[in-house]
Amino acid sequence: MTISEASLIITGAGSGFGKSMALYFSQLGAKVSALDFNEDALKLLKNEDSSIATYICDVSSNEDVEKVVDHIFEDSDNVNVLVNNAGIMKNAPLVNLLSRPDSRHSVDLWSQVINVNQNGVFYMTRSVVNKMIRKRNKGVIINLSSIAAKGNIGQTAYSASKAAVEAMSKTWSKELGSFGIRSVCIAPGFINTIGTHDALEEKMLSKWIQKTPLSRTGEVREVVKAVHFVIENDFYNGETLHVNGGLVV
Ligand SMILES: NC(=O)c1ccc[n+]([C@@H]2O[C@H](COP(=O)([O-])OP(=O)(O)OC[C@H]3O[C@@H](n4cnc5c(N)ncnc54)[C@H](O)[C@@H]3O)[C@@H](O)[C@H]2O)c1
Repeated sequence: MTISEASLIITGAGSGFGKSMALYFSQLGAKVSALDFNEDALKLLKNEDSSIATYICDVSSNEDVEKVVDHIFEDSDNVNVLVNNAGIMKNAPLVNLLSRPDSRHSVDLWSQVINVNQNGVFYMTRSVVNKMIRKRNKGVIINLSSIAAKGNIGQTAYSASKAAVEAMSKTWSKELGSFGIRSVCIAPGFINTIGTHDALEEKMLSKWIQKTPLSRTGEVREVVKAVHFVIENDFYNGETLHVNGGLVV
């Protein structure tokens, strides 16, 4: 499919990768439906490009997701690309002996991360794909994973959620191929975003940069270009595309 034939739903489109993708693909002539739970961020996006349709939605709520997906398909029934991008990064070791009174990884933090990063992808994809199949829309599901899916120190919940995303994506690539729907993951390494700087201390980030063969963080546009490639290459399916400068965790 060419970008001008694409009608995309992008989750977490209020900032970072999601916002850049929404603006980039809209400028190239795609139809973009942008989702986020941050209403102010969606207003700013709309101000930058009024042709982008915006929808408030918390992807960790299945009720919200079902309502919004119905609404989007009423507005544009030709949706053929879903980018599951919304995600949160929260770090904690499994056991922190300095943490009182409980040294164990918080169950609440575990649930927060799994609810958004894993359940959100499941809720969105089951609703959108069901409609795509009924409308006979062929296309692609693109899931944002991470280099952490391989298991990264201090990221039990985040790593688990992204490994689950990769497993779901692989499963869907097998189940949905006969409907002409592909499923692919993009796994960025450390990218120069506000989210990365918020989630990691600068000292820790410098260590990761030293370990990266290209000795730098990636840029948002380099992830957006990977998404562009996946949309346009109709034979790319069931894989994880790594965008990490050669870093191995
Ligand atoms: N930035 C990186 O270096 C990096 C690396 C690897 C993977 N990723 C993944 O890429 C994706 C985007 O990352 P980013 O750095 O652009 O993040 P970001 O924090 O800049 O943006 C995430 C967006 O998602 C929205 N969001 C969060 N929870 C939501 C929810 N429950 N419902 C709806 N919207 C919600 C936020 O409001 C925000 O607009 C995430 O899945 C992240 O795990 C990022």
